[in-house]
Amino acid sequence: MEGGNGRVCVTGASGYLGSWLVMRLLQRGYSVRGTVRSLEDKSKTEHLLSLPEAKEKLELVEADLLVYSSIPAAVKGCDGVFAVAVPILDPSKDQSGMIELAMTSTMNLLRACDESHCVKRVVMTSTYYSAIQVPHEGEIPFEVDESSWTSVEYCMQQKMSCWGYMVAKTLAEKAAFEYAKEKEFDLISILPSLVGGAFLTPSVPGSVALYLGAMTDVATWMSSLLGYMSYVHVDDTIQAHILLMEDSHAKGRYLCSAVDATLDDVLHEVLPLLKSFNIPPPKVAASLDEDPTKAYYKINTTKLKDMGFTYEFDTLQKIFKDSVLFFLEKGHLKQVQ
Ligand SMILES: NC(=O)c1ccc[n+]([C@@H]2O[C@H](COP(=O)([O-])OP(=O)(O)OC[C@H]3O[C@@H](n4cnc5c(N)ncnc54)[C@H](OP(=O)(O)O)[C@@H]3O)[C@@H](O)[C@H]2O)c1
Repeated sequence: MEGGNGRVCVTGASGYLGSWLVMRLLQRGYSVRGTVRSLEDKSKTEHLLSLPEAKEKLELVEADLLVYSSIPAAVKGCDGVFAVAVPILDPSKDQSGMIELAMTSTMNLLRACDESHCVKRVVMTSTYYSAIQVPHEGEIPFEVDESSWTSVEYCMQQKMSCWGYMVAKTLAEKAAFEYAKEKEFDLISILPSLVGGAFLTPSVPGSVALYLGAMTDVATWMSSLLGYMSYVHVDDTIQAHILLMEDSHAKGRYLCSAVDATLDDVLHEVLPLLKSFNIPPPKVAASLDEDPTKAYYKINTTKLKDMGFTYEFDTLQKIFKDSVLFFLEKGHLKQVQ
């Protein structure tokens, strides 16, 4: 697809990544159709309708990916579809239930795209969690690239934090590629790591809340995560989505991640940063289950870089600094007077 020309659909337009993607697509000149589940709910639409160019170029439509009949109208007439939405259950309540939701929503959307006879490419937002959870013996850190698929058996055995999400995203991405192969249509997946930075949504998005946790309460942050993590800024993530839609040479899966970091690495960056802004340091637990200095894997993102992609936010310092500035502006972090 040529940059800025044509109509694209963004599912989950109201969410963190979806709304940032809508903003950048409008800036680039695209006509955008965004899906939301309810047009009545202003908290899902106002931040989109107030974007520059929205009046002329943004159309919001209702679609629930779990209800097939609501989808064909959403993709009709679109050249490309960004499959961003993810139906998620409360992870504390039901992990395994997510698998069926992810499969149904993904297959419904792909079927509608296939039957539309207009959609030329689908860019599906997966996650790096569909690549990194593999049993590993031997030296660490081990390298992970796009050939690696998270092992469903391993996740089911380990039942690590968010295992249902990892399994659901992995199985949905695999099924999507099988379907695309059978139907011979163009599918690309992008696998971002933990996305942070500014946001357009009225409330703090889930992944951004984890960044905020690293700045306020490390124990809570760690308890919901795996300790060793990888990080990427929202704007880099979205620019990569657009590149993958537009570049005719794109093929298959693309990891999208700027930095791998241990908890020690994060604290090393965050503590002086907070100090420089006169923000109190986070609470840090006396003992943590994870070894804060241990690096488990190393993400190889050369496939994306080889397409000419560069990360504007390529260090922890840059990603966290942008997040701090935004949190201060919005009152989520307070300076000591
Ligand atoms: N944030 C991250 O760190 C991160 C990292 C890697 C991958 N990802 C992936 O990126 C995608 C977006 O994540 P996000 O952080 O932007 O999540 P988010 O803010 O929670 O947005 C998810 C969106 O999905 C929509 N949605 C939920 N159920 C739906 C359904 N049944 N039908 C249609 N839409 C539905 C919601 O829209 P409404 O409620 O408005 O309809 C919501 O706007 C997901 O696929 C996620 O797995 C995120």
